[in-house]
Amino acid sequence: MLFRQLFDKESSTYTYLIASGFGREALIIDPVQEHTDTYLGLLEQLDIKLVRAIDTHTHADHITALGDLRDATSCVTIMGEFTQAECVSEQVSEGDKITIEGITLEALYTPGHTDESFSFYLSDTKMKAVFTGDVLLIRGSGRTDFQGGDPYKSYDSIVNKLFTLGDETLVYPAHDYKGMTCSSIREERLHNPRLAGKTAEQYAEIMRSLNLPNPKMMDIAVPANLVCGKAN
Ligand SMILES: [Fe+2]
Repeated sequence: MLFRQLFDKESSTYTYLIASGFGREALIIDPVQEHTDTYLGLLEQLDIKLVRAIDTHTHADHITALGDLRDATSCVTIMGEFTQAECVSEQVSEGDKITIEGITLEALYTPGHTDESFSFYLSDTKMKAVFTGDVLLIRGSGRTDFQGGDPYKSYDSIVNKLFTLGDETLVYPAHDYKGMTCSSIREERLHNPRLAGKTAEQYAEIMRSLNLPNPKMMDIAVPANLVCGKAN
């Protein structure tokens, strides 16, 4: 399997490029517009063909590359069914399978950070992994105070859905601000300080008291992402 984790320094965003091998079909998760040329170059070098580009949710801190990648590669753009982004070509629902040559991702509806966030579960003989967007981060979780966020839904998505995926399942979030690149369900279940041993009420209290400033790019990024980054 080809698996590449790419990083945007500005927004600390992780993007994932996945294919079952050289010369085969590929998909990308949470691509950042500024890096479109890097992705296109990498696709060429790995001799893979981008056929699906997925956003886990409407990002508030960077502009998506979904529109530019669709223009450049004719890939299918995908978000969850509750997105307001009508520009995407496919909207997936809970349990839907996204299949490319040799790879299948299962869509999991995991609201809480936003009301339209999905996670994507890869269950392969070589690798079990879940791409959690901003719902579950490494030793943290995505804020729940805007974009239809709800700490109780976040808790439910993480504890009752993501934590049931199996301890060895790797966790690949859309961001990390401390340089951690990967976790596992076991680590997060046992050591995520917001969640381990916490009730839904305790978690909601933690989330309510975060008092975070809005992301710098929010007023630009959200409207741009509702049109797949093709505002101009
Ligand atoms: Fe987000």
